[in-house]
Amino acid sequence: MKIKNICCLGAGYVGGPTMSVIALKCPEIKVTVVDLNESRIAAWNDEDLDKLPVYEPGLAEVVEEARGRNLFFSTEVDSAIEAADMIFIAVNTPTKNYGEGKGMAADLKFVELCARQIARIAKNDKIIVEKSTLPVRTAETLQTILDHTGNGVKFEVLSNPEFLAEGTAINDLLYADRVLIGGKQTESGQKAIQALVDVYAHWLSPKQILTTNVWSSELSKLTANAFLAQRISSINALSALCEATEADVDEVATAIGTDSRIGPKFLKASVGFGGSCFQKDILNLVYLCRYFNLPEVANYWEQIIILNDYQKYRFAKKIISSLFNTVSGKKITFLGWAFKKDTNDTRESAAIYVAEHLIEDGAEIHVYDPKVSEEKIKADMSYLWELKGFTEQKIESKLKQIFVYNSAEDALHQAHAVAVLTEWDEFKTYNWNSIFINMYKPAFIFDGRNILDAEELTAIGFQVKGIGKGYIPQLKREPVF
Ligand code: NAD
Ligand code: UGA
Repeated sequence: MKIKNICCLGAGYVGGPTMSVIALKCPEIKVTVVDLNESRIAAWNDEDLDKLPVYEPGLAEVVEEARGRNLFFSTEVDSAIEAADMIFIAVNTPTKNYGEGKGMAADLKFVELCARQIARIAKNDKIIVEKSTLPVRTAETLQTILDHTGNGVKFEVLSNPEFLAEGTAINDLLYADRVLIGGKQTESGQKAIQALVDVYAHWLSPKQILTTNVWSSELSKLTANAFLAQRISSINALSALCEATEADVDEVATAIGTDSRIGPKFLKASVGFGGSCFQKDILNLVYLCRYFNLPEVANYWEQIIILNDYQKYRFAKKIISSLFNTVSGKKITFLGWAFKKDTNDTRESAAIYVAEHLIEDGAEIHVYDPKVSEEKIKADMSYLWELKGFTEQKIESKLKQIFVYNSAEDALHQAHAVAVLTEWDEFKTYNWNSIFINMYKPAFIFDGRNILDAEELTAIGFQVKGIGKGYIPQLKREPVF
């Protein structure tokens, strides 16, 4: 079966970039990305490519080439569903914040709504592709809804989880290590798998396209994220030990990462991982293990989250204790708010939790991030405090402790301390000599990403504290002769 018309429900960080690349590489397929959020769709259609709702290096160029040719963004969900042979579901699946499974399970209400809408609208057979990250056996639920509420047409459900990372999404899509497609072992299931394989085969080689049964595919996605996050929590756990023993975490990471069995990636110690998926997917994995009565397995994976929370808290505590046990009324400048560089996404960013601890201790948080707006930063904090049950009045008053700037220079002026929360490259290029002159003394730098040159900054006069760096390098001495 040849796919001619694709529809994607959800124009977010996954739906937007993945469909743009499919459209770019498959010019004969019409790709329509739909969303209920009108302003998001308007932004995807904006003439000014700087206003696309997702910031990703290389994305604007792809959209520019394909948009209006065979790539369309629309709020007309029903007509897009009706016209499509293949429908991707790329809607959000956040952690449930109510009822059964609150704080652990994935909230599948948006996915369920999509299935009901597809079933109501579809008048001919369709392939439904799970692109969202879903708990293992969700395809069964989708199939049940589609079969019981549809118009008698046939639906094949495939699992095709997405492995892109934000900030490198276009590269990850164009040069994917692999794509994974899970489907039923029936004849029609295999035909559906082949139809999706043919889409990816436009730019990926057959050995990059893995096919499995549906359940393996669903579970592999949660597992991949859990393994990646596990490495970060492992190195972050060791960073605490390094600080206590004067070992250097970057040296340890290099030493172990050169063992080809371990490998060098995902061993960068940090203030803690953020992002919309690691925490939510691991919590979901833990929930599933408990659901299937596997408490030891659940506790094993849960430790990744516990350690990550500890790392964020440890960073905030170090700032407070270094600043003579109080940050009350002090100006702490945050360089970075996004959960990693090269994205405007702030979901679950470590910055949010570090800010919360410091604000609790009375600090003024002054933020500069090259891609994140004041509105977003304040919305992130308000959302956290709402979840904690704070009154509107209390939230308003706490927001007065946050100041957001369009320039790093202004944010850093007369600060007591600088905290690096995101590893944006531009932070390395600043004139730290003049920043030092304009700060209160002693001037502290807490490098939550270990991106700055600690030796050079120490020579300028800063008190530098990195992650997993108990040992501050001595000043370089001039040779005697
Ligand atoms: P997102 O919040 O950026 O986008 C989801 C979009 O779906 C929103 O714009 C929302 O308005 C829309 N939506 C919700 N219900 C809808 C409906 N019924 N019809 C049409 N649109 C609807 O989320 P995201 O980051 O793109 O993530 C989507 C899924 O992909 C999640 O399951 C996530 O776990 C997974 N994932 C995300 C990433 C990532 O890097 N962000 C990577 C891999 C997988
Ligand atoms: C992650 C995975 O890498 C993707 O494969 C997956 O598709 C995606 O989650 C998802 O399911 O959403 P993402 O969260 O976008 O991608 O970004 P990562 O590069 O994985 O970084 C996640 C967090 O870990 C960031 O806060 C980053 O700064 C931190 N990190 C990463 C470290 O602290 N140390 C590292 O060595 C690597």
